[in-house]
Amino acid sequence: MPLTEKIKKDVASLREQINYHNIQYYTFDNPEIPDGEYDKLLRELQKYEAEYPELISLDSPTQRVGAEPLKAFGEITHAIPMLSLGNAMNEEELHDFDRKIKKLIDEDEIEYAAEPKLDGLAISVRYENGILVTAATRGDGKVGENITQNARTINTIPLKLIGKNFPAVLEVRGEVFMPLSGFHKLNEDVLKNGGKAFANPRNAAAGSLRQLDSRITSSRPLEMICYGVGVIEGATLPDTYSEMIDWLQSFGLKGSPERAVLKGSEACVDYYNKIAKKREQLPYEIDGIVYKVNRFAQQKELGFISRAPRWAIAHKFPAQEVMTTLHAVEFQVGRTGAITPVARLEPVEVGGVIVSNATLHNMDEIQRLGVREGDTVIIRRAGDVIPQVVSVVENLRPEDSKKILMPDHCPVCQSDLIKPEGQTVVRCSGGLYCEAQRKEAIKHFASRKAMNIDGLGDKLVDQLVDENLINNPSDLYKLGVDELSNLERMGSKSANSQ
Ligand code: IVH
Repeated sequence: MPLTEKIKKDVASLREQINYHNIQYYTFDNPEIPDGEYDKLLRELQKYEAEYPELISLDSPTQRVGAEPLKAFGEITHAIPMLSLGNAMNEEELHDFDRKIKKLIDEDEIEYAAEPKLDGLAISVRYENGILVTAATRGDGKVGENITQNARTINTIPLKLIGKNFPAVLEVRGEVFMPLSGFHKLNEDVLKNGGKAFANPRNAAAGSLRQLDSRITSSRPLEMICYGVGVIEGATLPDTYSEMIDWLQSFGLKGSPERAVLKGSEACVDYYNKIAKKREQLPYEIDGIVYKVNRFAQQKELGFISRAPRWAIAHKFPAQEVMTTLHAVEFQVGRTGAITPVARLEPVEVGGVIVSNATLHNMDEIQRLGVREGDTVIIRRAGDVIPQVVSVVENLRPEDSKKILMPDHCPVCQSDLIKPEGQTVVRCSGGLYCEAQRKEAIKHFASRKAMNIDGLGDKLVDQLVDENLINNPSDLYKLGVDELSNLERMGSKSANSQ
């Protein structure tokens, strides 16, 4: 069939519909039609494009799959530099920031736009007449890399803006990141294929966005959330940051779903605490809150210092990942005899608490990490999860680092260790003969979900077993007042002597 005007019109209409539904689905998490209907539209468009390849254009929704690999990235100069942010490490520094602003612009109370600080990487995407033309990384803030082909594969970056009132030229800025679910799945796949896992979602996002082969980027679950603009031509910005984000959303771009407008720095602290509580439930990683003076007229008055705006600040959460030294590895025996290597660390603050131990799970994990005693390691502690060793900083390895070896015998009772075929866990064969297993079995018996014995905590069980007063759970019921009151005295003595 020859290419008719009717076909051209059909193709344009299909693209418009698919683009619209893509945006509802990916950007607004609010699909209007079932997946099957969407697939039908997409297949219809693909059929037309297969028959009339001359109709394929870069803004077609079929063109998100990546293109031929590049030899190197070109450069893109940011006409308006991409800035960084000053930090507030605690509440006091946030109140200082607010006081300074109020003084500089002579106001009693400032309205702030607040949103989580996403842990990804900044990019700038340029639209001309609503069509995505280029995308660049931040680079040094003045010149970035041309990652247009890769940006095209990210579903929350429209290839074409929706609505009618978008500016003739719009440079939109935001953070590209990898949601946690996609990050975990990617790492599983990487490990299955014998590759090296990404240490965190930020590294995974950066590695994915900086691929010369955009087909690889296309297979990675990246997203973008917008938090600013660069060059704008043919439109005037709204009066406030919050209205600007709504304005960008009306074109199909995504703003932070958590964003809020707050009056004064006390409200900022409340917002910080609210998001900190929610942090573990969010589908992506954040490392703080960004507050921006909401009114653009006030932003203009405040201006910049060196490379950061005076009107914005990042209030950081305590770091969830830090570096420290792994002094030694000790092997712990669990209730079922499982031997778990535990890293003894130089104490360090992570996620707001001091940590001196981290689990290494099993010998396979030690091998996967390639960790040795004496190494500098990266430790992660998120929420209530026990601290983990994420990776080794290999170039800081000391000359006298030591290989970690599995002991031949149970470190507590000297019984043989067994490793059933095909399993990663090594176990002590001592059963209740092993003091460690005995203690853990009694602790388990007394625990809240089992007998829920009030006042019988881990320390007391350790003490009772050490004193040879009990050997198994049933012995608990033979304990008399004398033994216990004796113990109590010992307990209080040792508490006083600390
Ligand atoms: S505003 C002029 N808002 O943080 C201010 N930045 O430390 C420009 N970031 O380079 C940035 N989430 O990569 C802003 N909601 C947010 C952000 C955010 C993450 C990153 C961004 C920036 C870095 C500065």
